Amino acid sequence: MAFSTPQDYTIRPGTLPDAAAMAQCNLESIRVAFAELMPASWLHAPSTADSYLTKWTDHLTPRPVPDGIHLLAETHSDSEPARVVAVANAGPLRPYIGLESLDRATMLQLWTLYVHPTAQGTGLGRRLFLEAVKSAHETWPACSDKLIVLTFEGNTNGRRFYEKLGGTLWGILPKYPLPLGGGNCDIATYEWDGVAEWITKWEKGSR
Ligand SMILES: CC(C)(COP(=O)(O)OP(=O)(O)OC[C@H]1O[C@@H](n2cnc3c(N)ncnc32)[C@H](O)[C@@H]1OP(=O)(O)O)[C@@H](O)C(=O)NCCC(=O)NCCS
Repeated sequence: MAFSTPQDYTIRPGTLPDAAAMAQCNLESIRVAFAELMPASWLHAPSTADSYLTKWTDHLTPRPVPDGIHLLAETHSDSEPARVVAVANAGPLRPYIGLESLDRATMLQLWTLYVHPTAQGTGLGRRLFLEAVKSAHETWPACSDKLIVLTFEGNTNGRRFYEKLGGTLWGILPKYPLPLGGGNCDIATYEWDGVAEWITKWEKGSR
């Protein structure tokens, strides 16, 4: 069955049993999106897959106080089992070397957004972005001054997507040390001023 509109997918919070499927979706997305940006030996290493499973298991492990919003999008069909085709998470801005001038107590961050290559270009990324930011904004209303997103400086497609949604370039963090043994990379930082106002614009489809 072909899935071609955002309505073909269900968005819901991920739970611990979803960790393996979310890690796999994340991994399959970066293997294509970052093929020119990161070494194939790292993208395809079993240790990288293990790190992603550990990361998503940690994200989804229930905590007394939630530290982030973790969403997935999955197919829904009568004829085949549900498949996870996108993942996103968001929460208060995390600490980064080079972003110390930003007031983390008042800012949200979209930590990750990965749509599987088979589901890109259908409007799903836009829908999941909005749901993750909305949900994080409801959970941390004090973090309403700015939304921040970090992505690879060389991730042209990701950057065009964020620019399409109204993000403006705050700056580039040079040679930033990546987590999970991914080496160093220049990181582009995008910002949106006034989270509530932007949510209204995205909902209206005016950005
Ligand atoms: C970037 C990504 C999240 C976008 O999701 P998507 O489902 O492919 O994008 P959508 O179909 O929701 O597009 C939303 C809008 O952005 C625009 N857009 C998306 N990619 C674009 C690009 N490369 N250049 C220009 N515009 C783009 C679309 O035209 C669309 O505009 P519209 O709403 O006016 O029609 C997805 O392609 C992805 O996961 N890529 C790989 C990983 C990645 O780069 N993640 C983000 C940074 S870490």
